[in-house]
Amino acid sequence: MFPKVNPAETKSWDALENHYEDISKDPIIEMFEKDPDRFNKFSIQWKDFLLDYSKNIFSDKTKSLLIKLADECQLKDAIEAMFSGEKINETEDRAVLHTALRSNSKEPLKVDGEDVRPLIAKELEKMKAFTEKLHSGELKGFDGKVIKNIVNIGIGGSDLGPYMVCEALKPYQKENINSYFVSNVDGSHLHQVLQKVDAAETLFIIASKTFTTQETMTNANSAKDWFLNLAKDETAIAKHFIALSTNKKSVEAFGIDSANMFEFWDWVGGRYSLWSSIGMSIACAIGYDNFRDLLDGAEAMDIHFRETEFEKNLPVILAMLGVWYNNFFGAESHAILPYDQYLHRFASYLQQGDMESNGKFIDRNGEPIAIQTGPIIWGEPGTNGQHAFYQLIHQGTKLIPSDFIASAQSQNPMSDHHEKLLANFFAQTEALMKGKMEETVIDELLKTGMEEEDIDFLLPFKIFEGNQPTNSILVKKITPFNLGALIAMYEHKIFVQGVIWNVFSFDQWGVELGKQLAGQILPELQGDDKVTSHDGSTNSLINQWKEWRK
Ligand code: F6P
Repeated sequence: MFPKVNPAETKSWDALENHYEDISKDPIIEMFEKDPDRFNKFSIQWKDFLLDYSKNIFSDKTKSLLIKLADECQLKDAIEAMFSGEKINETEDRAVLHTALRSNSKEPLKVDGEDVRPLIAKELEKMKAFTEKLHSGELKGFDGKVIKNIVNIGIGGSDLGPYMVCEALKPYQKENINSYFVSNVDGSHLHQVLQKVDAAETLFIIASKTFTTQETMTNANSAKDWFLNLAKDETAIAKHFIALSTNKKSVEAFGIDSANMFEFWDWVGGRYSLWSSIGMSIACAIGYDNFRDLLDGAEAMDIHFRETEFEKNLPVILAMLGVWYNNFFGAESHAILPYDQYLHRFASYLQQGDMESNGKFIDRNGEPIAIQTGPIIWGEPGTNGQHAFYQLIHQGTKLIPSDFIASAQSQNPMSDHHEKLLANFFAQTEALMKGKMEETVIDELLKTGMEEEDIDFLLPFKIFEGNQPTNSILVKKITPFNLGALIAMYEHKIFVQGVIWNVFSFDQWGVELGKQLAGQILPELQGDDKVTSHDGSTNSLINQWKEWRK
């Protein structure tokens, strides 16, 4: 049984509340002075990863209370329930088995009496064969030209994961392949891509778990019209369109032969699907072997997560630190700051992963939740963010816990660029922790020869209070294997937090209302008649639009 513990009713929750009163104002820098072993105690080295979580408002006692909380919330049972294929997504009556997609285990794993391992293996074989044909130049378009452009049409989990990974692994991109992603129903997105490609050399990958998503189906139909207008031959579709989906019927109705459909299953959540055939655009971009390395890296993290004691468990420690700040310090957001330009979509990807999973206000018992659940996830690559929003992290009124992520080795060594990038990575977490004390500011200003009166005026503006918590995640190099492990680490962090907050992390009912209303409004936009069926604001906006569209 998947646990359903209200965390606020546990003993450790009360203890953490009291502990917060004792420790919340303690300067982290003094914790280092008092304990020379602090870094060793609060860091984890695992394969090519170093997680340093010593720059947190956190002590031995904090750690032991947070781990007690995880125990009281029956985290171990929850982990086992997920990995063993229990239907832990109860509101959709589904198992949650993205971990099976990357597993090399041969041990049977059953969902509704059927072993899923052979299903996964068969689909991976099919992906391998297809991508090998693509990369050997065997895959040709309707007029015999070799396929070299891949256009992934999908949205949400059918776009964010594959797009983020293709960007992150650009250095592994096959030379003869150009990858494009279209997600927004705004016609400009598709238009921009179609302008760049020759229909005869282009493969459209229609990626949609449900194959009913309005944005994806609209883009897919427009791409098909554009293609047929040039190819002038319905039979050519078979060479230029493939589908990644769980919905065979709708794929066939769209006109894609089921031989060109790569399947996955309802036990794969959309935002956890890049490991399934939804990863086809990744395999096309970087080759099947690199895709397999990505899966292997994720599997290595799965094993670490499942088998390592909580004290040394990367996802568990990250998750419990997040709970500490979210629920006891009242931090509302969490920043993801990769010092790696290739990871420029990582924060956007995690926005869906985290916010669609844990943005819930009803608990697993169907009761309203009285504590805070999922945080707002945001971020941009460093150093760019330093010149945009770091001011608020350093001197604003909010506590913003942040993950700083960097790759020790550059993919493109160029003079001292990487040293400068990493100098900033190291400097920022130190600055956020130490801040700048009054005496230091006075000293600095005196050295410039400034008058005392002017110093008095400037002083308060130049003080940084510091004590902003950070995690540093140093990865040796962003290879496919390490990226797979990094993504899986965050997936499991999100899972752990969902277990603690007692929410169902694998449904997303909250996205339905807007979709339903858009469906109702769409026909109202057709004619020139004034719309009166909504509230005053919505009616007026629609009617003004009807005026201006002419
Ligand atoms: O709107 C949210 C959502 O359902 C996501 O969970 C999902 O990743 C996305 O839409 C796309 O869904 P599909 O793959 O079925 O087109």
